[in-house]
Amino acid sequence: MSSQQRKQVILGAYLGGVNHHTAWWDPQAGSQIEFDSFEHTARTAERGKFDFFFLAEGLALRERAGQVFDQDIIGRPDTFTVLASLAAVTEHLGLAGTINATFNEPYELARQFATLDQLSGGRAAWNVVTSFDAFTGQNFRRGGYLDSSQRYERAEETLALVRELWDSWRSDDIVADKDSGRFLARPDAGEFAFHGSHFDVSGKFTVPRSPQGRPVILQAGVSPQGRDFAAGNADAIFSPYGDLPDAVEFYRDIKARAVAAGREPGEIKILPSASFVLGTSEADAIEKYRDIRNQQVTGQTALILLEQIWNRDLSAYDPEGPLPDIAPDPEAPPIIQGKAFIHQDRFATVERLRAVAESKKLTLREVVIDQFERGPIVGTAQQVAEKIDSFVQNDGSDGFIIGSHLVPTGLDEFVDEVVPLLQDRGALRADYEGTTLRDNLGLAIPAEREKASAR
Ligand SMILES: Cc1cc2nc3c(=O)[nH]c(=O)nc-3n(C[C@H](O)[C@H](O)[C@H](O)COP(=O)(O)O)c2cc1C
Repeated sequence: MSSQQRKQVILGAYLGGVNHHTAWWDPQAGSQIEFDSFEHTARTAERGKFDFFFLAEGLALRERAGQVFDQDIIGRPDTFTVLASLAAVTEHLGLAGTINATFNEPYELARQFATLDQLSGGRAAWNVVTSFDAFTGQNFRRGGYLDSSQRYERAEETLALVRELWDSWRSDDIVADKDSGRFLARPDAGEFAFHGSHFDVSGKFTVPRSPQGRPVILQAGVSPQGRDFAAGNADAIFSPYGDLPDAVEFYRDIKARAVAAGREPGEIKILPSASFVLGTSEADAIEKYRDIRNQQVTGQTALILLEQIWNRDLSAYDPEGPLPDIAPDPEAPPIIQGKAFIHQDRFATVERLRAVAESKKLTLREVVIDQFERGPIVGTAQQVAEKIDSFVQNDGSDGFIIGSHLVPTGLDEFVDEVVPLLQDRGALRADYEGTTLRDNLGLAIPAEREKASAR
């Protein structure tokens, strides 16, 4: 297969805060919040011809019984400030930010992403999330604001309005003709009106059309509502399914939903999150991986992660003993505040964990170590490149959003050792071909409105 025909692997670089996927205690680990860390990771990703840099968002520190977790999502500063600063030190790398559609106003969101797209020369992407519980809302003084059943309804309207705002300008609206003294091509540039059940607004938008017209839309959320929202609206999905066969099923499901929504399957990319560990041999990599996981998952972390599934107080259980012998309690109020509970059947998950514990003879903590890492890719550089490429060629995904347990230097060895092998296989670009993130992802620039008042 020539590199022209071969499905290209899309790569995103993920930098999270301090949590059970990272290793802040490692002697080589640096700050999770200083500019240098973001800059190093972004520059490294660009050196490796990655499509984009990706930031998750945490609007609340997660708590259990009033206590912040043992190793929780700490060190997630404001997304727009970080991405704007990275726009200045990178040239081709997309800049993707997770921003909540529940707690933000569409007008502000449209301004912020259009501005990022302007400043970066067309590299902005918005990962639209809806948030999961009232706890996050407390930080916004809204308490139980907006029931979860309405979150996607609001997200649909938010996105429709944001698009209306982005489309309110045409790229030829600014003439700036110094000879004639004419700045605007038409007096109604930026004019918009939107009448929905969540928003009823009209006026003029302040940011002229940005290089991508519409910044790239990502989505993360896997409920049926979330899937339909993504299938109808998103250019890519940040997926939690990094393992077969779930990944293939999710891939098929989303592409089918996109087709049902009148789109081409290739218009929406599926990108699972994945961690990686490289070794000089497979055995060396597995040993390193086990060692990292063993340190990441303390007894307290193991219990808390299981409480998210059981939705019960498990603090009396011994992490070095067997899994709790009781059933989960889906009806009780959430025991963990602020955690994104990935849509799933608690009973089926518990059954699966019990089967793993039984067949592998694992303790409670060992089950968590074994089961709670997102799509680990472990092996020699050759094996890791092979796994990534074959996963993508077999439609497990269209690429990966890759994070390392080591901030900020963890991605270096991936770029030095795995990227050249992916390039040799014809699965990754040797160099950037276009200038925008849409170019990187092979997505078209959306058509503009007809001239003047045609809308
Ligand atoms: C892989 C993945 C990553 C996510 N990352 C974030 C995040 O960084 N910040 C956030 O507020 N929510 C995040 N979410 C949660 C989404 O906000 C979403 O609202 C939540 O999963 C509920 O949607 P659902 O019911 O469709 O799954 C993530 C979800 C998934 C599946």
